[in-house]
Amino acid sequence: MIVSLYSTKGGCGKSTLAVCLAAYWSQTRKTALLDADPQASLSLCRQEVLHVPVFEDTSKGIGKTIAKLAGEYERVVIDTAGYRRRKNIEALAHSDFVLIPCKPSPFDVREAMEAVELLREIAGAKERKRAPLPYAIVLTMAQRTAVSAHIREELEHSGVPFMSAQIGQRVAFVETPIVGFPPAGSVAALEIELLAKEIRRRLKA
Ligand SMILES: Nc1ncnc2c1ncn2[C@@H]1O[C@H](COP(=O)(O)OP(=O)(O)O)[C@@H](O)[C@H]1O
Ligand SMILES: [Mg+2]
Repeated sequence: MIVSLYSTKGGCGKSTLAVCLAAYWSQTRKTALLDADPQASLSLCRQEVLHVPVFEDTSKGIGKTIAKLAGEYERVVIDTAGYRRRKNIEALAHSDFVLIPCKPSPFDVREAMEAVELLREIAGAKERKRAPLPYAIVLTMAQRTAVSAHIREELEHSGVPFMSAQIGQRVAFVETPIVGFPPAGSVAALEIELLAKEIRRRLKA
């Protein structure tokens, strides 16, 4: 299963969620992270605590790298850069599921909708060998504020696939790349577990 994190918005939590989901799945499945972002945020992950191999795409065709990893790993999580580049489009076209993180702010919602537009184009593009391309927006860095609740409601009624699972604003997620997966039983661990399970459910549906 290949899951990509995508949004045209920087700082919306793509790399963080990529790391957390990969760390969660690696507890029970052979999992790899693929860094498709030239910023290479994932290279900052501490291997000794995260236990998920991080691959960078050095070849010209990321599709080949993805196919190779998919043959060796049960779960491949791809962190993309937030812009329309050939590499991103190719990575998305090779994914089984695309998760679009969205922070609870009106600006972020607009960017998430732009990401959705791009995904719809890709789903119909020639790079996409298999159809359809399932995707969903996930509310991340959510807080117990009126604006967070309002944005959640707006996304729920937007007609765009929207995850029930939600990720809160928590220090545990900032720490994951250097401290490892949040402790079992913590709210952060539970949020990632629910997100991962919902992705699986949506893929089976
Ligand atoms: N759920 C969260 N709670 C608190 N901080 C977060 C959360 N998700 C991400 N962050 C922080 O927000 C910033 C941007 O996140 P990052 O994952 O790098 O976004 P992107 O990859 O989309 O640019 C980072 O400093 C990260 O640690
Ligand atoms: Mg990033």
